[in-house]
Amino acid sequence: MSMKNRIEFFKEGIKHIKTTGTITRSSNFVCKKMLKHIDFKNARVIVELGAGDGVITKHILKKMHPDCKLIAFEVLDNFMPFLNELAEKDKRLIVAHDSAEKIGEYLDKIDAQKADYFVSALPFVVLPDDLGEKIVSEAAKHLKKGGLYIQLHYSLVAKKMYEKAFGNVDVNFVFLNVPPAFVLVSEKRA
Ligand SMILES: C[S@@+](CC[C@H](N)C(=O)[O-])C[C@H]1O[C@@H](n2cnc3c(N)ncnc32)[C@H](O)[C@@H]1O
Repeated sequence: MSMKNRIEFFKEGIKHIKTTGTITRSSNFVCKKMLKHIDFKNARVIVELGAGDGVITKHILKKMHPDCKLIAFEVLDNFMPFLNELAEKDKRLIVAHDSAEKIGEYLDKIDAQKADYFVSALPFVVLPDDLGEKIVSEAAKHLKKGGLYIQLHYSLVAKKMYEKAFGNVDVNFVFLNVPPAFVLVSEKRA
């Protein structure tokens, strides 16, 4: 990632802290810890929630199958040039400049009913509770049986939301990251 991206993220983070929840984007180390849960050989539909300037998006695109599609949701206008540039270069990426609860609508656009994986860095700690619950329940509804919902957090405040939506959550502590992070993984079982 270039310094230009880093500065842009910092500026957006400060300006819209109640939307981004952070002033720094995820480290490569955390991205890898999140994506190690994905079976890239077999995944055909991945949905990313809260793509920012595309740091996790790039990692996913690098690893995903040529026939896999990635829908990346992001609400902030100033991140669009970064995501649109990625989508111009790689037609497997569909940028959803929209709020993440509209998962069903965007899956319809690519003729997919369900996703194999959700990868989220949405800052549920700063988003309204009802919006968070709506997004996670829509993700649970649109996840294939056996699929995983993978969420990055810097605290365990929102853990109960995933327990409620999926009935299970596995907590992975990424202690070598600064700040230490949690990758929460829930499986769609029923
Ligand atoms: C913590 S940042 C993560 C950015 C990037 N994925 C990373 O890991 O560095 C969270 C992102 O979620 C976006 N966001 C917040 N609310 C959203 C919503 N309702 N739908 C889609 N994106 C949202 C923010 O604008 C921000 O870019």
